[in-house]
Amino acid sequence: MTQDSALLLQAPETDLRDGSNNRKVFIKTYGCQMNVYDSTRMSDALARDGYEPTEDMEEADLVLLNTCHIREKAAEKVYSALGRLREMKKRKAADGREMMIGVAGCVAQAEGEEILRRAPAVDVVIGPQTYHRLPEALRRAREGHRVIDTEYAIEDKFEHLPIAEAPKIRARGVTSFLTVQEGCDKFCTFCVVPYTRGSEVSRPVSQIVEEAMKLVDGGVREITLLGQNVNAWHGMGPKGEEWSLGDLLYRLAEIPGLARLRYTTSHPRDMDDRLIEAHRDLRTLMPYLHLPVQAGSDRILKAMNRRHTAAEYLSLIERIRKARPDIALSGDFITGFPGETDREFEDTLKLVEEVRYAQAFSFKYSTRPGTPGAELKDQVPENIKAERLERLQALLLKQTQEFNDACVGKEIDLLLEKPGRMPGQLIGRSPWLQSVNVDAKASQIGDIIKVRITGTGTNSLFAERAEAEV
Ligand code: 5AD
Ligand code: SF4
Repeated sequence: MTQDSALLLQAPETDLRDGSNNRKVFIKTYGCQMNVYDSTRMSDALARDGYEPTEDMEEADLVLLNTCHIREKAAEKVYSALGRLREMKKRKAADGREMMIGVAGCVAQAEGEEILRRAPAVDVVIGPQTYHRLPEALRRAREGHRVIDTEYAIEDKFEHLPIAEAPKIRARGVTSFLTVQEGCDKFCTFCVVPYTRGSEVSRPVSQIVEEAMKLVDGGVREITLLGQNVNAWHGMGPKGEEWSLGDLLYRLAEIPGLARLRYTTSHPRDMDDRLIEAHRDLRTLMPYLHLPVQAGSDRILKAMNRRHTAAEYLSLIERIRKARPDIALSGDFITGFPGETDREFEDTLKLVEEVRYAQAFSFKYSTRPGTPGAELKDQVPENIKAERLERLQALLLKQTQEFNDACVGKEIDLLLEKPGRMPGQLIGRSPWLQSVNVDAKASQIGDIIKVRITGTGTNSLFAERAEAEV
C-alpha cells in the first residue's frame, strides 16, 4: 500500500481536496446485471478513497461510465455521452471545479487507447477486470497523467474488491446481485463477451458464502448469483470434492435468513443434473430460469456455435419442467443471424410456440467487430431483421401476457421490495420475477407476504393481501 492510500483509508471522511468536503462520484451503468453489480463494487472501492455516490452529475467530482459493448452503437453512444461530458467538464473548470471522467466496462476493454485518442476529456480508462485498481488509477490521473488500465488476471479482481459492509448494503435494499463467475469460453460466433470479459473464472466457495452472509446481515432477503455463464461455475466443497452450481445453491440455501435464490445467465450445455435437482429440492431457489436459446434452426444454432440442437434444448426444458413444474422460463433470441432464411426464422417461432416463455429478450443481430460472425458474407438486410424481430416480439409478448393472465386468482408469496407508484403501495417480486403492486406499509419492505393476484397491467401485476394483517 502506498503512503497515500494508507492516509486515505485512515481518514476517509476528512477533507481530501483543499478545504472542501468529500469527493462525489456519479456512476452511469449501461448493460447487464453484471455491470450493475460491478458499479456497486466500484462504488465500494471508491468509498474507501473518500468518494460518496451522488445521483446528481452536476455535483460530481468524478463521472464514471460503466459501459456495455454487447450490441450495436454501444461504443458510439459512449462517445456521444463523452462529448457532452467534455462540455460539462469545461464549464465546471471555468467555475474553478475539477471534474474527472472515467470510462469502465466492456467498451473500455474493447476500445482501449482509442478512447483516449477520440475523447480528450477522459482521464481514466479501466477494464472490467481491473476495478480494484481504480483508486490508484485516479490518483495517477490527479497527478496529471491520463491512465489506461485494461491488463488483467481476473482472479485479482475477485481477491481485491472489498466486500460491502452491512450499513451500505442496508441502504441498497432487500435484493442483491452476487457475482460468482465471470468470463466465457463458449465463443458463440456473434458475441463479444469472451473478448471483453476474458475466459471463464469461478469465484471460490468461501468468498461467495462470506459475501452472501454479509448481504443477509445487511438485510438482503434475495440473492441473484451472476455470471456470464453462471452454470459453468465450479468450485471445491469442504472435503475437496468438485462442486457445480447446483452444489453451491444447496450450500447457500442453508444460510439462515436468506429467503430466495436466483441465478443468471445460463447456457443450455451447462444445465447439469445437480442443478436440475436443486430446482426440484430447494424451495429457496425460485422457479424462474433464464435459458437463452437464440434461434430455433439447427443450421443457425451450429453457425452460432451454440453446440446444441433445437431438439436437445426442448428435451432439456422437458426435464427441467418435470423437476419443477411451475418454473417460469425466459430466453434470449437473435433475429437475422448471417445466412438465416425465412424458413429458418420460422423454426425460431416454432420453438417459441413449443416452449411457451414467461419472459424473453430479443434482438436484431448486430455485427460485432472481431467476432467470427462479422466475417460472414451473407449478412441479412436490416429491414428483414427488423420484420422478423417484430413478429417474434409479438409472439413473445402474447406468451408473457398469457403467463401473467394465468396468475390471476393465484395466492403467492411476495417479497416486498420498494415503494410503489401510489402512496400506501409497495412493489414486490413474485417467485416468477414479476413486479406486483399491493397495499402495504413502508415498514414492511423486506417481508414476504401472502397475496392474491387480482389483475395484470402492462409491466406489472396487482394483488391484494391474502391474509389479515397481524
Ligand atoms: N447481436 C444481437 N444480439 C446479441 N446478443 C449478444 N451478442 C449479440 C449480437 N452481436 C444477445 C444474445 C445474448 C444477449 C445477452 O444479447 O441474445 O444472449
Ligand atoms: Fe456470449 Fe455465448 Fe458466452 Fe453467452 S455463452 S456470453 S452468448 S459467447
